[in-house]
Formats: sequence, C-alpha cells, structure tokens
Amino acid sequence: MVIIDGKKIAAELRAEVAARVAGCARAPHLAVIVVGDDPASAVYVHNKAIACEKAGMRNTTVALPASASEDELLSVIAGLNSDPAVDGILVQLPLPRHIDEDRILAAIALEKDVDGFHPGNVAALFQKRPCAVPCTPKGIMKLLEAYGIEPCGKRAVVIGRSRIVGLPVAKLLLDANATVTICHTRTVNLAAVTREADIIVVASGHPETLRGDMVREGAVVIDVGINRDPVTGALCGDVLFDEVAPKASFITPVPGGVGPMTTACLLENTLELYLNRP
Ligand code: GUN
Repeated sequence: MVIIDGKKIAAELRAEVAARVAGCARAPHLAVIVVGDDPASAVYVHNKAIACEKAGMRNTTVALPASASEDELLSVIAGLNSDPAVDGILVQLPLPRHIDEDRILAAIALEKDVDGFHPGNVAALFQKRPCAVPCTPKGIMKLLEAYGIEPCGKRAVVIGRSRIVGLPVAKLLLDANATVTICHTRTVNLAAVTREADIIVVASGHPETLRGDMVREGAVVIDVGINRDPVTGALCGDVLFDEVAPKASFITPVPGGVGPMTTACLLENTLELYLNRP
C-alpha cells in the first residue's frame, strides 16, 4: 500500500507555478470573497492568501458579514469584474442560505472564473472545450497521474455529486476513459457498488463514508473529505483510513492528500487566467 503524498506533489506544482510567475510582466492577482464567519472557510481563505504570496502572486481578500445581501455581494463581484488589475475571482462556498449561489457564480466574469463554477465553464467542461477546471478535481487527476495510476478502462466510483467535486471529477475520469459510477445519498447498497471499483473518490462530506468492508483488495482510494472528529477534534477525511488503507493499493491521507493539491491548482488556474488575458 502506498500513501499518496499530496503535500509533495503540491509543493512541486507550486514551485513550477512560482517559476512561471517569476517570468510574468506583473504578478497575477487573485481576489477571494468570503461571506460570513464559517471557521473552516476562514482557514481555507487564509491558506489561499498565503499560498498566493509564496508563489509571488497578488491576493486580495474581501470579507463580507454573514448579513450581507445578495445585491451587496453582486456589487463587489461587479467591481472586481471591471477591475483590470484582477485576473481571478473566487467566491468561497458555501454561501449563507439567503444568497442564491447559482446567481452569484454566474455573475463572475467568465474569463476571471478561477474555480470553473460559472455556467459557461461548466458547459465547456462537459463539451470538452478549453476551460478553467475546478481545482479539487484537477488536483485529484494530477495525483493519479503523478503515481502512474491510469484510469483508462478502470471502474471508477465517485461518492458525491457536488458542483465542487463529485460532478466535475466524474467528468474528468470519464474523459480519461474510466467507466464511471456516481453514488450519492439516495444510492441503494453503496457497498455493493464500491466493492466493484478500481478507483474510489470519496467526496461525501461525512466521516466514515467508506469503511474497510466496502473496498476490494488493491483499490485506489482518494479521500476528499475534511472533517473534524467530534470526539478528538482531529482532522479526518470521509474514509475510515485505518480500515481501508490495508486493503488499498494507493490511498490519500487527510490531511496531506487532496487538500494541498486544491490550493496548488488554484494558483495554476490563476496563472492561466492571467496568461489568457487579451
Ligand atoms: N469550498 C470548498 N471547496 C471550495 C472550492 O474549491 N472553491 C470554492 N469557491 N469554495 C469551496
């Protein structure tokens, strides 16, 4: 069993991005908007700012109170859309419930949509046109590639159907010629499906979604979860690592697996938006 070293692969990608940034006429600039005071979001946004700085990029974080209206958020986005000094815009999800996420994501200028969540980018991904590829799915595909795991012809099972991970990673695996099954909260007998899988991507958002008896010997297991153990407070993924790892051929740890790749891919996406500007 190999524990996939996401920290190492992400560090290599960040170094590569930093070297390319050093050759740019100016620092690519990522703007991040966060609404409310969700502690996890605050940590992610802080990490993104630090990663930008380390890669030689410019970062602006706009923090709005949880009480901010949809119109206020739309007006911040409009300002960043029309600011020629901003290359990429990211609205941290989830948003407070009173804000329509679809409306917000569609308001980001397509050419500044660093997450690839704008409907124009979603359509482009599903039509195999050039687009900003969502960071976590992109990072997962890079991890598979770095470890020589070839999806072609394999049975891949994705648990979760979110716009951030489940749907786009299923499309990327399909494009890599895997046979893809998407499972979700209404899936009947999840274990019967996962036991057939060569590659399992777990993005359910719940600890212990994948246990040892749900995995066949030699499966590749990618854990996208970031949860807090309610008892110990320790970070844990969606996979019961101690049970699943002995059966897996490759497995990502939490922390140190997919998470660092998401941030590194965000930097790469920001650089690409900068380079694609007219
Ligand atoms: N919340 C959790 N993951 C992500 C992500 O990749 N992008 C955004 N915008 N919000 C998130």
